[in-house]
Amino acid sequence: MNTNWTEQNIAELFDAYDDWVENAFGYQPLIAELTCSYGKGISVLDYGCGSGKVSRRLRDDGFDYVTGVDISPTMIEKAISAGTNRLRFEQIHGPNLPFPDNSFEAVISCFLFINIPERRELVRITTEVMRILKPGGSYYILDTHPQTTGVDYPTYRNGEHGISYQDGDNRPVYLTIPGRQQPLEIVDKQWGLSTYRNTFAAAGLSLTTERNLPFDNSQLPVHTSEFRTLQDTKPYILLRATKQ
Ligand SMILES: C[S@@+](CC[C@H](N)C(=O)[O-])C[C@H]1O[C@@H](n2cnc3c(N)ncnc32)[C@H](O)[C@@H]1O
Repeated sequence: MNTNWTEQNIAELFDAYDDWVENAFGYQPLIAELTCSYGKGISVLDYGCGSGKVSRRLRDDGFDYVTGVDISPTMIEKAISAGTNRLRFEQIHGPNLPFPDNSFEAVISCFLFINIPERRELVRITTEVMRILKPGGSYYILDTHPQTTGVDYPTYRNGEHGISYQDGDNRPVYLTIPGRQQPLEIVDKQWGLSTYRNTFAAAGLSLTTERNLPFDNSQLPVHTSEFRTLQDTKPYILLRATKQ
């Protein structure tokens, strides 16, 4: 049973989660790669935008044309209620996107694939994303690294200690919510690297980038020395496919 992102309680708690680890070691490398490849004057679609945290970071970083879409009306409500200055948010209904062919220079999906329960759905999403990308545009995927489970990161743990997850397994995730004793428990899908590669191949694409994103102690706040052993572990993976 995967996470029900339409539940109000889940939307509230996920929005309250302080995602500084994801930001430092996942979102910022993604934004840097996007900026380096295309600059900031491009149209970007944040597919599976949730409550809009990444869209807002892109906007605040100088991207002027950011649109966020999500299947959950509850998450989109949260995104809109946080403000839409230089941002657009829209609920979508299934994998068909309400945009013409060749609309965006870049599409990003952060922690979306691990929330899609079926392989064929991954292919449908990727095929649809490629339709709305301009030629030369890229689809970037940021996800938790499938080979880094059971590790206690400062704000979350992905998977149980000592358990090895197989492609297609459900995997619990525990997010520490500020001011709350119990973590928010959600359920992700374990997708191996071969599933990402096969998804792109099935959508007629080859991956141009597959980067392990490492944890870096120099970004740790002071007084968090207990996490120094995490140096160079790889919490995230960044993949990119470009439309010819
Ligand atoms: C873990 S949250 C990530 C939100 C955001 N990308 C972030 O990094 O903060 C996953 C999001 O994917 C959305 N989602 C799940 N299945 C989807 C689908 N088929 N199409 C679009 N969004 C979907 C959920 O509603 C949820 O908001």
